[in-house]
Amino acid sequence: MTDRLNSSHEQASGARRLRLRSYTLADETAARAANESMKSDGSLFLLDWNETTQWPQWLKTINEHRRGLSLSVGLVPAVQLVADVDGDIVGSVRVRFSLNKELERTGGHIGYGVLPAQRRRGYATEILSQALVVARSQGVDRVLVTCFEDNAASARVIEKCGGVLEDVITIEHDARGLRRYWIE
Ligand SMILES: CC(C)(COP(=O)(O)OP(=O)(O)OC[C@H]1O[C@@H](n2cnc3c(N)ncnc32)[C@H](O)[C@@H]1OP(=O)(O)O)[C@@H](O)C(=O)NCCC(=O)NCCS
Repeated sequence: MTDRLNSSHEQASGARRLRLRSYTLADETAARAANESMKSDGSLFLLDWNETTQWPQWLKTINEHRRGLSLSVGLVPAVQLVADVDGDIVGSVRVRFSLNKELERTGGHIGYGVLPAQRRRGYATEILSQALVVARSQGVDRVLVTCFEDNAASARVIEKCGGVLEDVITIEHDARGLRRYWIE
């Protein structure tokens, strides 16, 4: 996989300039700010991250996870990419290259988020479209994506990208139904 992942899929909207790419040392300040801004709706921007983590160490960790190394219990090989529009961070995405039992039930292959200030511009739809290319480049042909029932925006994103609803399940400690979609 190259560091800069360009998709041939481009929308007619401003999302066509969006690129998924690897995080770099230069992203630290913007990525920390992005992580903070996502907390307002309880979402995570960076995974396997906390405020005390040194940025270079986090880059090393996610690079290892991408190669299937140093995985804690419950983790699978995965890549975390940043969504960049003309040099600005607008969102993030995690693409898992396989599923364990729990991920097959709840987490799915792909998780994404768009910064609150950047929403409703088609970015999430573009992020998922490009993430599907990443997943397929890793041999994942059937992609599981999930969202809670009260997340109309995410459900719409998944359906626009070809998601077919498998079922709606209940999970522990959450009253909301979880919608499970497969994209082929
Ligand atoms: C869900 C999320 C990723 C959507 O990002 P976005 O960039 O605003 O989405 P898009 O602009 O691509 O919009 C996709 C569709 O959802 C619709 N939509 C966007 N926000 C919406 C909202 N709040 N309510 C209803 N529909 C909404 C858009 O109108 C569009 O549909 P359309 O093409 O038919 O008009 C973003 O709100 C987010 O990051 N939320 C927090 C994290 C999260 O929920 N991630 C997904 C986990 S499953």
